[in-house]
Amino acid sequence: MGTSELNLQALADYITAAFAEEDAVLRAARARMQQSGLPPINVSPSEGKLLQVLARLIGAQRILEIGTLGGYSAIWLARALPPEGKLVTLEIDCHHAEVARENLAQAGLGHKVEVRLGRAAETLRHMHAQGEPPFDLIFIDADKESYPEYFELCLPLLRRGGLLLADNALSPVMRDPQRTGGVARYNALAAARADLASIIVPMLRGEDRVDGLILSLKL
Ligand SMILES: C[S@@+](CC[C@H](N)C(=O)[O-])C[C@H]1O[C@@H](n2cnc3c(N)ncnc32)[C@H](O)[C@@H]1O
Repeated sequence: MGTSELNLQALADYITAAFAEEDAVLRAARARMQQSGLPPINVSPSEGKLLQVLARLIGAQRILEIGTLGGYSAIWLARALPPEGKLVTLEIDCHHAEVARENLAQAGLGHKVEVRLGRAAETLRHMHAQGEPPFDLIFIDADKESYPEYFELCLPLLRRGGLLLADNALSPVMRDPQRTGGVARYNALAAARADLASIIVPMLRGEDRVDGLILSLKL
């Protein structure tokens, strides 16, 4: 079967049904986001599951997320943490942060997840200055123009053997044909680094939509 005949929605549905079915907590989190007027720009269930599997794969105990929204991806990630694990998630919008805190509390994860309010670049600089301990996994999913800045600010906060992940990695192909935007520059930075092993994993979003997650292992 050629790719033009592929039904991307059917493929996405198959993966979700087999491996990433939402439970009541995740469904309730999305419902609260919708009722609270948040945009539906959270990761898909299958991307949430991929994040969770990657966190488990490296035995992540400390996770950093940039771009909280309503805490949907934070729930998937925090569920991969051991009992003493911690997730710090950065958000600029206080309404988003409030919805996320409620969702995380309802998920029984409030004690493991800290939502830090503010411009992520500033918060990251503050973390450097305060000597924040290194993270095992960092997931970038906020304003795309700042991706190159997040790349530079996040790498020193990541332990060797840790994973740096960023969402919407295929947006240069899907939405930025000149490839001058923040994500294209981020991808180029990652590709040029000999101390990172990087690859983009395409992610099916259904309804003929494809995007990607870029993974960089810090060597
Ligand atoms: C795509 S959403 C995050 C989705 C979330 N990771 C999920 O999958 O559930 C991006 C979020 O980044 C936040 N954001 C945008 N610019 C930001 C900035 N400069 N600093 C911190 N957060 C920012 C937005 O308010 C929004 O909530």
